[in-house]
Amino acid sequence: MKFAFAAFTASFCLVVLTASAQNGPKQSASPQPTRPTDFPGLGEIMTLQQLRHIKLWFAGRAGNWALAEYEIGELNEGFEDADQLVGGGTVEKMVGAPIREIQKAVDEKNSAAFTAAFDRLTAGCDSCHRALGRPFIAIQRPTLLPYSDQSFTPMK
Ligand code: HEC
Repeated sequence: MKFAFAAFTASFCLVVLTASAQNGPKQSASPQPTRPTDFPGLGEIMTLQQLRHIKLWFAGRAGNWALAEYEIGELNEGFEDADQLVGGGTVEKMVGAPIREIQKAVDEKNSAAFTAAFDRLTAGCDSCHRALGRPFIAIQRPTLLPYSDQSFTPMK
């Protein structure tokens, strides 16, 4: 028992040493040292973008413009985070125009314009997935609302 514990402690120390040896030089060579170390990765940001993309669709279809407006704001925040990781103006190039278009449709409470802009936004998502070597991540209009605990009916 005593031996097992000692062996465990020794291997644990080894893991910690190896990990810090691997992380050390990588961190100091980081191109953007101002970004906090707990900053989410692109995959995590995208999972949230997916959620907002779905909710935006159902909010717009329901004519819940206040909720649609909110989801666009959340998408914008996610894209700002993505921009910090990707850089090079890629986010603006891929989804800047359709985001502004869908914002305009929501401001005008225009369902037809919303639907058209949503499809262009979706195409923008995928143009970035292709550009960044993820052509197998293919986004489409959602057919099902997975969030049955949230009402999408517009407020009276
Ligand atoms: C700036 C480029 C860019 C834009 C714009 C973009 N994505 Fe992504 N997305 C990526 C990259 C790169 C990955 C792969 C991330 C990784 O490998 O960790 C990804 C991954 C994903 C994933 C897979 C996440 C997972 O773990 O399964 C989803 C879903 C996704 N994006 C949805 C979207 C949606 C929806 C939009 C538009 C509203 C969008 N993305 C816009 C670059 C982008």
